[in-house]
Amino acid sequence: MVNKTSSCVFISGNGSNLKSLIKSSRDYNFPIKIELIISNNIKAGGIRLAKRYSIPYKFFPSNDQKKFERNCLFEIKKRKIKFLCLAGFMKILSSNFIRTFRHKIINIHPSLLPKYPGAHAHRDALADGAKVTGCTVHLVDEGVDSGPILAQRELEVLPDDDEDSLSERVKVLEHILYPEVIDAFAAGLL
Ligand code: GRF
Repeated sequence: MVNKTSSCVFISGNGSNLKSLIKSSRDYNFPIKIELIISNNIKAGGIRLAKRYSIPYKFFPSNDQKKFERNCLFEIKKRKIKFLCLAGFMKILSSNFIRTFRHKIINIHPSLLPKYPGAHAHRDALADGAKVTGCTVHLVDEGVDSGPILAQRELEVLPDDDEDSLSERVKVLEHILYPEVIDAFAAGLL
């Protein structure tokens, strides 16, 4: 078995990307082990997944950002976690926090960055009349969805797409791309 890197996944919502990472991480050769799931939303579907797969999880409200990050740091250090995956985590982390884990925080975003950063990527793509969209896995820096791009997958926008259909179709790609990139990144291929 590869020497798996202790990792934490941050979520806010549904957790479909979390699910794909959990499934991949159960593979003998996948380079990360999910030791902790952190949610800033008590109602996040991902919390149910944490329970189902018996992965330790913490809910910390993020309205007080300093307190939130202090709580996260405490848990991360306690568990000797070395790699952080954001998977639908809807809160901007502070520069201090990001600097502590430089090049150790990775995110998936539902657009072809640098196009359509922020919380409404599909809405923005549709409003812009984009013919092609997709998803991006990138390292997290101090900006909003602005860190170095590791990989992208493209998808054609169909004439009758709305935000929901686009999100659903892009997520199919996300669930493949995110584990692939983590695998390659850990192997030093990216
Ligand atoms: C995904 O589209 C991801 O790219 C974005 O937020 C969404 C989260 O979905 N950052 P889920 O919670 O993983 O289902």
